[in-house]
Amino acid sequence: AENGLSRTPAMGFNNWNSTHCRAEFNEDMVKGIADIFVSRGLKDVGYQYVNIDDCWAEPQRDAAGNLVPHRTRFPNGIKAVADYVHAKGLKFGIYTSAGTKTCDVQGFPGGIGHEDQDARLFASWGVDYLKYDNCGDHLGQSAQQRYTKMRDALAATGRPILFSLCEWGQSQPWRWAHPVGNSWRTTGDISDNWGSMLGIFKQNVGLAANAQRGGWNDPDMLEVGNGGMTEVEYRSHFSLWAMMNAPLLIGADLRKVGQSTFDILTNREIIALDQDGLGVQATEISADGGRHVLVKPLDNGDVAVALFNETGSTQTISTTASAANLGNANSFRLRDLWTGQQRDTTGVISASVPAHATVVYRVSRQGTFATPPAGVSQLSDLT
Ligand code: GLA
Repeated sequence: AENGLSRTPAMGFNNWNSTHCRAEFNEDMVKGIADIFVSRGLKDVGYQYVNIDDCWAEPQRDAAGNLVPHRTRFPNGIKAVADYVHAKGLKFGIYTSAGTKTCDVQGFPGGIGHEDQDARLFASWGVDYLKYDNCGDHLGQSAQQRYTKMRDALAATGRPILFSLCEWGQSQPWRWAHPVGNSWRTTGDISDNWGSMLGIFKQNVGLAANAQRGGWNDPDMLEVGNGGMTEVEYRSHFSLWAMMNAPLLIGADLRKVGQSTFDILTNREIIALDQDGLGVQATEISADGGRHVLVKPLDNGDVAVALFNETGSTQTISTTASAANLGNANSFRLRDLWTGQQRDTTGVISASVPAHATVVYRVSRQGTFATPPAGVSQLSDLT
């Protein structure tokens, strides 16, 4: 997008995956999440946005045509909640739809035809992030028209507001949305089970060439901590999303999860892959028999290599430094980003990977290079 935002994928929270529209989605929840972002170190590792999803509004606009915060969920309004989040040094996000209704069965008012009014209202509340869904009547307009209108309305407010497109990949937004949004959903909704996560991964992984700084493929929000997958599967989910430069939006109610969920979500070295300055989404270089190899170049010259075992039994998954575009070196150091263990290899990158697990290595060139990179005059400069 041209708004200068999301130079790396957004990191934060969204309530949808844990609450949908149940009553526990309310002001207390949002404040509680903001508190936990600070107290449990999530803010420290980069999580920033605390976002609310569908069902935050009353079913009708007011007499002036403005959206009205839901009276029991948000009795003090949205601005009070945004202020609370901002006071913690965090940012606040909201949701509406690029049609006449939102997506919940109750069908709250959507933004089409009200783009400027709604954008101004959001800006006046201190909104920093808008997720723009795709439900209701589109009034004959294309996705590109509808999303571009809201982009322009947000820009006209003068407030920096990250713009997240949620049209589920239907109009192939990765082809046209770079000037429009900071991310675009590439698939339908995730749910909290292995099959859903795997299917979404497979749809999103082939779109690596379409991601770049400021505009990212969005394979939907995280399910880590919601209880429907094993810890091994959640580590795979988190690893794959980071390799794919996905927005990392926590979808679990952090007031209710155990330590293992925090351990996954706060793995700094995995997060660093997602947030790497080069901004290149991993490419899948092989997937034979459900043994996936993903390769992601990093801005310091290292390469991240993920060995993902889709199958139900332990598999040896292998590649080489040259297949991972590491060029020539006498040896390579493999750092396992989940165990912290390191070892050196002359070129083979391999692991025995348990069922549904992912081994993620950060691979760096060691010692002297066979061919010195440009600008290096002495091999000793490289040590
Ligand atoms: C759609 C979106 C979801 C969520 C719901 C809310 O299904 O894809 O992420 O926002 O709407 O109703």
